[in-house]
Order: sequence, then structure tokens, then C-alpha cells
Amino acid sequence: MKKLVVKLGGSLLFDDDGNINADRIKGFAEILVELKNKDGYLPIVVVGGGVIARKYISISRKFHASETFNDELGIEVSRINARLLMAALGEEAFPDIPKNVKEVAKAFESQKIVVMGGTEPGHSTNAVAALMADYFRAEMLINATSVDGVYTSPPKKDLKAKKLDEVSIEKLKELMLTSGVRAGEYELFDLVAISIVERAKIITKIINGKNPENILKAIRGEKIGTSVIFSD
Ligand code: UTP
Repeated sequence: MKKLVVKLGGSLLFDDDGNINADRIKGFAEILVELKNKDGYLPIVVVGGGVIARKYISISRKFHASETFNDELGIEVSRINARLLMAALGEEAFPDIPKNVKEVAKAFESQKIVVMGGTEPGHSTNAVAALMADYFRAEMLINATSVDGVYTSPPKKDLKAKKLDEVSIEKLKELMLTSGVRAGEYELFDLVAISIVERAKIITKIINGKNPENILKAIRGEKIGTSVIFSD
């Protein structure tokens, strides 16, 4: 089966008031099953840590824990978030969280949808998604976030920010240089993720995942979100 990597931003699992959005999680599960059964893709889904990870990390940092310790906290939270999606997928999901590429390869043998969170300290779940997309030669990497795509500047801070339909990998790198490098502070992409996307030239789309249907649209070639383009 064709492989596909979907990164779900942790924030997508929650409403703005912090409550878990069960309907949206169910929506993701339904779309993933449709992708498998109708479109013939075997998805691997990487779920982010979102606001819960950031809350844990900020308190842990107050206790002077190391950044690596804080990364590990973030990883644990991303795996808890992943388990929620696993629950919504029921029998369709591989029933454990893989922690590295070898475990993902093993999980794929089941032909079930694979759901995971982070892997190692030092990068974001976007980097994990990029690594998986490269390793398993995925047809596409879909990065579902809470914004419509990549903007000329951070849309939450700059009202004049414009969404880009396409972004070159060089421009994406430039835009992400302002992103934090500490635990819980990465913006859309961290530099590790960008390097992996760049060296493997992974077909990557950044879309708004608040509506789970957008994932289907992106894969079916509708004009949505921002596509990353490479110079050759
Ligand atoms: P995320 O990558 O999910 O960060 O992991 P995020 O910025 O909250 O992303 P969204 O909003 O959910 O998409 C949370 C934190 O966990 C650590 C990092 O500190 C990251 O900021 N982490 C995650 C790792 O150290 N390694 C991983 O493989 C994944």
C-alpha cells in the first residue's frame, strides 16, 4: 500500500477553551479510515504535544529541569495525545505507540493505521513526521496545523500577514529562523524537520486541520494550504 504521513498538531485535539474536541478527533479517525479504504493509503499519523506539552514544560522549566528532560516531557504528552486518536480509530489502529523507525516498520506489517508521538529529545514531532516520510518513502507529508498554511509572517502576531499557496524550501527555512529552539517552543517547522524535508525533497503540504476534511482535499490534489517547492 502507498504510504502517507500525517502530522496532527497537538492543538487540533483541543478547543480554544482547553477542552478535548472529541468530534474533531473522531473526524480525523473517519478521514484516515477513508484514506485507507477508498484511496489506498496506509497512513502513519504523528500527533503533536500542543498546549498540554507546553504547560508541563513551562512548570518543569521553573523547577530548573534540563531542556532534554523537558523534551522528554513533551514526548510523553505527544504519546498520550496519540493514544486518544488511537482510541477513536479502535480496531483500525495498530494498538501500540512505536518509538522509532524499526518499531514503525514492524507496526506496518499489521496493515493497520500507525499512530505515534515523539521519538527522541532535540526536535519536534514535525521532524519525526519528516523522518518517517523519508524512511518509508511516503507519497506525501501532510502537516495539519491550526492555521491555513505558511504566512509571510506569524499570522497570530501580524494582521497583515499573507498566506502563501507555495513556499520554496529556502523561504520556509528563512521564515522559521525566528522559531524557538527550546523544548515546547517550535513554531510550524523546526530546522531539523526542514533539513529532512529538504534533503529528501519530500512532497509536503501545510494545511489547516481544524476541518479534518482538508486532509482528504490535500491528498486528492485540491488547491489547499501551502505546498513546499524545491528548486530542482
Ligand atoms: P511537538 O513537536 O508536538 O511541539 O512536541 P509543539 O510545538 O507543541 O507542536 P504542536 O503544536 O503540537 O504541533 C512538544 C515538545 O516535545 C519535545 C519538544 O520539546 C517539543 O517542543 N519533543 C517532541 C522532542 O523533544 N522530540 C520529539 O520527537 C517530539
